Amino acid sequence: MSVGLIPGVERVLFTEEQIDQRIREVAAQISQRYAGKPLKLIGVLKGSVFFLTALSRQIDIPHTIDFLAISSFSNKSGSPGVVRIAKDLDDSIEGEDVLLVEDIVDTGFTLRYLLQTLAGRGPNSLSVCTFLDRNSRRIVQVPVDYRCFEIPDRFVVGFGLDHNQLYRNLGYVTSKADVTSSTRIFRD
Ligand code: IMP
Ligand code: MG
Repeated sequence: MSVGLIPGVERVLFTEEQIDQRIREVAAQISQRYAGKPLKLIGVLKGSVFFLTALSRQIDIPHTIDFLAISSFSNKSGSPGVVRIAKDLDDSIEGEDVLLVEDIVDTGFTLRYLLQTLAGRGPNSLSVCTFLDRNSRRIVQVPVDYRCFEIPDRFVVGFGLDHNQLYRNLGYVTSKADVTSSTRIFRD
């Protein structure tokens, strides 16, 4: 899809080539750290699917994958932060070395909830790998072990990230100027 066909598009932040190169670098770090361990990648549907599959293909040690889905709601004051599991993992993570794979860490509410939930299930270790990190909007502090890119405070789409469920299929990441917090839907 041509960039010109996306309403409100600002500029391409990361091209397919840049994304591919960075994923190779992060995958190499992960392969080194988890060599000989029972690594499981856990993806958060739907946003992280594109990143997780690209990352998995570049990780050159044996590993398994599993997915969960969450819903996020605004609370009465209008701020996000209420998260629940809409689809749980298929399998137990007890004793496993878990790498939670996210599309983007923004306020941190989603990640905090996921880390608390998964930590209670007895993994051997629990770390976080995110495709994008928008640290400038963080409200709750959360640990991020691996990140591909830090991004400015602009709404972005592509490589799994959506606006109203569209544009996940773009191979690149582009910012969209016509999305404000009031037109955003807090759902993966
Ligand atoms: P949180 O604010 O860190 O809890 O992030 C909530 C979720 O909002 C992320 O997992 C994404 O699914 C979504 N999100 C945050 N920023 C963007 C964006 O710029 N584009 C598309 N989705 C986003
Ligand atoms: Mg997400």
